[in-house]
Amino acid sequence: MYKKLYLLLIIIVIISCKEEKKTLGNDNNPTEAKVNELLAKMTLDEKIGQLNLRGTSSRVKGGLSDELKQSVRDGKVGAFLNVMNTEYVDELQRIAVNESPNKVPLIFARDVIHGFKTIFPIPLGLAASWNAETVKESSRVAAVEASSSGIRWTFAPMLDIARDSRWGRIAESPGEDPYLAGVLGKAYVEGFQGDSLNDPTSMIACAKHFIGYGAAIGGRDYNTAIINKELLQNVYLPPFKAAFDAGSQTVMTSFNETNGIPASGDKKLLQDILREQLKFDGFVVSDWNSVIEMIPHGFAKDEKHAAEISVNAGMNMEMTSASYENHIKELLKEGKISEQQINNLVADILRVKFRMGLFENPNRDTNNSGDLYAKSHLELAKKAAIESSVLLKNKENILPLNKEAKVAVIGPLADKPREQLGTWTFDGDKTHTVTPVATFTKAKANFNFIEGLSYSRDVSENEFQKAINTAKKSDVVVFIGGEEAILSGEAHSRANINLPGAQEKLIKKLAATGKKIVLVIMAGRPITLTNIIDDVDAVLMTWHPGTMGGPAIYDMLYGEQEPLGRLPVTWPKTAGQLPLFYNHKNTGRPATSEEFVHIDSIPIGAWQSSLGNTSHYLDAGFTPHFPFGHGLGYTTFEYSDLKLSTQKLTDANTIEATVTVKNTGSKDGSELVQLYVQDVVGSITRPVKELKGFERILLKSGEVKNVSFKIQVEDLKYFNSDLKYGVEKGDFNIWIGKNSAEGLKGSFVYE
Ligand code: BGC
Repeated sequence: MYKKLYLLLIIIVIISCKEEKKTLGNDNNPTEAKVNELLAKMTLDEKIGQLNLRGTSSRVKGGLSDELKQSVRDGKVGAFLNVMNTEYVDELQRIAVNESPNKVPLIFARDVIHGFKTIFPIPLGLAASWNAETVKESSRVAAVEASSSGIRWTFAPMLDIARDSRWGRIAESPGEDPYLAGVLGKAYVEGFQGDSLNDPTSMIACAKHFIGYGAAIGGRDYNTAIINKELLQNVYLPPFKAAFDAGSQTVMTSFNETNGIPASGDKKLLQDILREQLKFDGFVVSDWNSVIEMIPHGFAKDEKHAAEISVNAGMNMEMTSASYENHIKELLKEGKISEQQINNLVADILRVKFRMGLFENPNRDTNNSGDLYAKSHLELAKKAAIESSVLLKNKENILPLNKEAKVAVIGPLADKPREQLGTWTFDGDKTHTVTPVATFTKAKANFNFIEGLSYSRDVSENEFQKAINTAKKSDVVVFIGGEEAILSGEAHSRANINLPGAQEKLIKKLAATGKKIVLVIMAGRPITLTNIIDDVDAVLMTWHPGTMGGPAIYDMLYGEQEPLGRLPVTWPKTAGQLPLFYNHKNTGRPATSEEFVHIDSIPIGAWQSSLGNTSHYLDAGFTPHFPFGHGLGYTTFEYSDLKLSTQKLTDANTIEATVTVKNTGSKDGSELVQLYVQDVVGSITRPVKELKGFERILLKSGEVKNVSFKIQVEDLKYFNSDLKYGVEKGDFNIWIGKNSAEGLKGSFVYE
């Protein structure tokens, strides 16, 4: 009896928690009642104040100005970004909650993108881990560290699907695949926000940039995106949906226009899609000045017009520019916007502040030291760097290295504490970074170090001879190069994505010594390697690996650990192939190796049609250098016996697809088994393959394991041209394998 009552009580609690989100506007809902009560007391000026995201470190340098303090006292600021002096944080919050008319607390925000003090691999690197648990744990560490400085809101995760490696912000992205991005997006939100929003170490997440920022034409940052409605639904929105379903409290509008409408003024996007379809119930923040950037976009005629458009679109909080502050009153008088709209915008923000527990507990938790650079944080950062590193090539198993071998460590990034942290690491202290050279030294490895080039863009050949001499005296060369941190990230797109400076030249000279070469790359994007791939024996991509990149690289090179990463983006042979992604459409004339004739093999005087007419480049072909999902370890695996429990899928059943995987190498190792599906015929054409699942397995040498995936109707749904979400009857192919280009194939029918 008691048991039953207890169960009933639990059910009621669960339902009422769910209801809290659903019944916004209902006075029976405690949070909603508080929001309404507060709103009723607020003046228009205070309401407008809540819509302001103000302040940068530069604005408060040299002490908080009286003017700034007064605006908080008057309730004219809703949140601050980049106030990194904890005394200022405490002082501003003290004024807000003691001296402002309605004592509404502030939120302090910061770009805590891949760690606060302890820096984890860049997000594209973390995506290569394909490990939601690692992403969640690293985000939790970031939140614990950052909240000790009073930061309770991060502008992350960035969930822009990125299919063009020229785009500098690909470094911050989860890569090209919506399924993987969704899995990781959820993990980021759970990690940043923690178990409860009102925990003092919880940092509210901000899914960004909504929407299509990664689809910038030509990979040029801030550029126009043209995305048809089905692509938007099937590719660009799913990672955001996953973040909202996980409870992300905020979302940031993107700088770009999509199909002619800048995101900060896109009413259909911010209302029909965001609120109605995706059921987002937090608040929207603009990107930096993106409201007033609608003027150069040619969408608003002046600042006042920009404010009118954004308010009408439902954009809640304006970052840095002040069009709301300057013009809302006038717009209200003119009837261009209504007080009800302002109330709604403010209510969305207050609701989040209540959920964060800021009214009861506004102050920075001084008991939370943040455990900055704690041993456990550093261990996690090292683990993440190993999980993120992708072994692209390993000829004749040159890796792992023999500890006895004499190693020449050469290259501009072998000992660059700041550079290996990567983009968006304002708070990471380089004195805590452990570089590869520092690690080799500490481990008393058998090595000599000479940079050869002093930074990644260096073109001076002055040190080449010394580097060559060092190589000659060694058994193997480990060249650690790539891109300095500044070469990727916001507004850092590149048209040519080869190794910059004279790195290729130096690698070729080192190769001419006849020594084996292991290339370790630190970079914010895939780097085209076509010019040097035959000169090097192994390639280990570590992205920008973060604080513990050195120890991670050391362990991987010497085989203490195998690299575990798999590519979250397709790796091109040349930038001319971009944009490039595995889940493309087939076209009416898909390329095949039989029909492909390379430019150098075309007979002189060949007839126009004699080469076959398929979709490819004469010089770069149609395949990437390395496919999405690719990554080697230190052992080999064989896949066999793909079996489907049934070849008929209905609404009532599921298919279990099982494959046998054997570790055929002499070392124990881990494999990331990937499942891809193709909907063969659709009412709109469907991608050649789509990732639908993955599982990491550990196998001892010689061990055999079966890996199974369940396929259900839900996994096959997509938005058709009427934007109906569903699955269409017909044939499907599936592949299970080690990357998007290989795998055992099966098929089934959905009836
Ligand atoms: C970036 C955002 C970032 C914001 C605040 C902008 O330039 O696009 O991603 O969160 O600045 O720093």
